[in-house]
Amino acid sequence: MHPLATTTSFLLTLLFCLHLTTSAPSNDSNNLSNCSQTFSCGTLKNVTYPFTGGLRPSHCGPPEFGLTCDADSVTILKANSLSYRVTHLNHTSQTLRLSRSDFHDNSPCTLEHTNNTLNNSIFLIDPTLETLSLLYNCDNNSISSSGLTNNRFSCDINGDTEEVFYVINSNPYNLYSTRWRKIECKTSIQVPILPRTSNGSLGEVLKEGFDVSYIDPYSADCTRCYKKHPGGYCGFDAQLGKPICICNDQLCPGKQKSLVFKNLCPCEPYWGN
Ligand SMILES: *[C@@H]1O[C@H](CO)[C@@H](O)[C@H](O)[C@H]1NC(C)=O
Ligand SMILES: *[C@@H]1O[C@H](CO)[C@@H](O)[C@H](O)[C@H]1NC(C)=O
Ligand SMILES: *[C@@H]1O[C@H](CO)[C@@H](O)[C@H](O)[C@H]1NC(C)=O
Ligand SMILES: *[C@@H]1O[C@H](CO)[C@@H](O)[C@H](O)[C@H]1NC(C)=O
Ligand SMILES: *[C@@H]1O[C@H](CO)[C@@H](O)[C@H](O)[C@H]1NC(C)=O
Ligand SMILES: *[C@@H]1O[C@H](CO)[C@@H](O)[C@H](O)[C@H]1NC(C)=O
Ligand SMILES: *[C@@H]1O[C@H](CO)[C@@H](O)[C@H](O)[C@H]1NC(C)=O
Ligand SMILES: *[C@@H]1O[C@H](CO)[C@@H](O)[C@H](O)[C@H]1NC(C)=O
Ligand SMILES: *[C@@H]1O[C@H](CO)[C@@H](O)[C@H](O)[C@H]1NC(C)=O
Repeated sequence: MHPLATTTSFLLTLLFCLHLTTSAPSNDSNNLSNCSQTFSCGTLKNVTYPFTGGLRPSHCGPPEFGLTCDADSVTILKANSLSYRVTHLNHTSQTLRLSRSDFHDNSPCTLEHTNNTLNNSIFLIDPTLETLSLLYNCDNNSISSSGLTNNRFSCDINGDTEEVFYVINSNPYNLYSTRWRKIECKTSIQVPILPRTSNGSLGEVLKEGFDVSYIDPYSADCTRCYKKHPGGYCGFDAQLGKPICICNDQLCPGKQKSLVFKNLCPCEPYWGN
């Protein structure tokens, strides 16, 4: 390299460093520490990437993997409008057992007439599971002619009685009556359930939950991170929606850019490689 170019490059790097040193806020928003911590709650112990929560700050993994520990030491995973209790987690098989929090009290009644809210490119429901369909606001005539009359329970919803019909493992809308009349219900939801090995009630079966396998969409970036920076940690910049690689409380030196987190000194110019 021409000596002048080297000097210019050096000056640029120095300027860049000074700029960052002076402009980098000294509060915690730039501090990527604590990804070496693990999450533990109740029976779940030593949970690591891609999960975050507890002592593991949100910059230590993608937002879909955020956990919390509730007052009863139950691990909670929130996904859009629903929250799920996490009762098993296995990093090796990359599986979770989840159950909807709204079905936690052994009752099949819920105010949340909502289907599974998990992102289906990240959490894959075990395809061997059975499906429970709950049918709300059904037309009585269509029910009585469908043979479903006994598959019912009632819920007390704020003093009103709600009649609910259920079907396991068949699409309720494919059940025809002897008069070939389709079941007519205003709303229905489907919940995966584990194979019923016991005579548990519907509420118990719902509380037991279902198995999903999880996929970290950024696992390739993460592998690269560990390879290039042994001792580093995989993390996530939620603002950019991109994975990051963390070395000692900071972004690892290299090409990474981040809106929230800045490379601090010692500076390696990130246009270099
Ligand atoms: C930390 O700095 C960011 C800007 O980089 C600012 O938005 C935030 O309010 C600051 N937090 C505290 C606790 O000072
Ligand atoms: C890291 O953990 C310590 C101790 O628990 C805490 O004081 C600090 O605020 C945490 N840092 C971040 C960036 O979360
Ligand atoms: C980040 O915070 C930790 C304490 O939680 C502190 O030891 C460390 O020096 C901080 N790092 C930076 C770069 O501010
Ligand atoms: C969790 O980690 C701690 C500290 O490394 C270890 O003593 C403990 O046996 C681990 N627990 C489980 C269930 O792996
Ligand atoms: C986790 O999954 C692996 C691989 O399927 C299995 O060998 C191991 O026994 C499981 N661990 C627990 C605690 O279930
Ligand atoms: C599900 O996750 C994938 C991978 O992160 C993402 O591309 C997609 O936008 C997500 N879908 C929804 C509905 O959030
Ligand atoms: C539907 O039928 C059940 C029992 O047969 C009855 O208790 C209920 O009042 C009926 N509902 C309507 C809206 O007709
Ligand atoms: C839930 O999913 C089933 C099957 O896809 C669908 O028929 C039903 O309308 C959905 N319910 C809601 C509330 O979106
Ligand atoms: C379930 O079945 C077992 C025997 O298989 C019996 O001992 C138990 O009382 C039954 N429980 C209920 C709630 O019916």
